Amino acid sequence: MSFDAKLNETAQFVNRVLERLLAEQDQVQGNLKEALSYVLDAPGKRVRSVLVLWCCELIGGSMNRNAEIAAAAIEMVHTYSLVHDDLPAMDDDDFRRGRPTCHKAFDEATAILAGDALLTFAFEILAKQVDEPSVAVRLIAQLAEAAGPGGMIAGQMADLKAEKTVGTEEILEYIHINKTAKLFRCAAIMGAICGGANGSQLRCLGEYGLKVGLGFQIADDILDVSASSGQLGKTAGKDAKAGKATYPAVVGMEKSWQLAKRLADEAVAQLKPFGPEADCLRQLAVALLQRTK
Ligand code: IPE
Ligand code: IPE
Ligand code: MG
Ligand code: MG
Ligand code: MG
Repeated sequence: MSFDAKLNETAQFVNRVLERLLAEQDQVQGNLKEALSYVLDAPGKRVRSVLVLWCCELIGGSMNRNAEIAAAAIEMVHTYSLVHDDLPAMDDDDFRRGRPTCHKAFDEATAILAGDALLTFAFEILAKQVDEPSVAVRLIAQLAEAAGPGGMIAGQMADLKAEKTVGTEEILEYIHINKTAKLFRCAAIMGAICGGANGSQLRCLGEYGLKVGLGFQIADDILDVSASSGQLGKTAGKDAKAGKATYPAVVGMEKSWQLAKRLADEAVAQLKPFGPEADCLRQLAVALLQRTK
């Protein structure tokens, strides 16, 4: 199977898992249910979930039920982060994944609560549906650490604080590692845990995820400058308008590209111990750099 076909098939699989999990929540009703379907059904790339599933497959030989739950959980946390990131008090965006943002389609309170619901639901499915309690606790700890105050929240806070200031490379790296790269590292580690990885495999895949994630956020900054809103499914050119500290703003486009390429190389270098079985992860590191959305 080609890389593109495998990526597409895995993303479709994640969509079906998310749909099933939401359908199981039969006590959720009305506006909240509609808002949750609205944001979860929207065409996200499912990159973090794919990382979970492929890292599990690499280590364990195939994807398994625990990885399926971990993939859905990380996608829920990521989707919540976007719903809140788009709120007027944060980036104030009107479009996401080719649709009006949640607070535009519904209202601000519903968007806040839908985000809260996704974040909580992610931990509920890990606690209840992962078959081995010790694996569940490790997955919960990883996701909480990456998404919490020492990870994504710290990055989002620093991102907002850095608006309209003269950014430095040091501050940028701090923001991007925390708001984005740690969740990518977490995805790789969660997958590896589900596959039964040993300590050195966890370290290599964690580093791979961190590098891919930092490169991914640099590419996101580049695309905000170079791509169209139609391509991105979100409003292009917003970072400069908001005075965000981004790689293109601080180091320029050329150096941003070089950095992103170097990170993809460094990510791939971490896969050396895994041989040809890791080829799809090698291709993923490059594809995420060359993406147009
Ligand atoms: C957007 O993430 C936010 C960043 C961390 C750059 P994605 O580009 O993965 O968004 P979706 O999930 O495909 O919409
Ligand atoms: C978002 O970064 C990172 C998150 C943790 C949500 P951005 O603010 O650059 O993401 P987009 O460009 O709105 O998708
Ligand atoms: Mg933001
Ligand atoms: Mg944003
Ligand atoms: Mg962005």
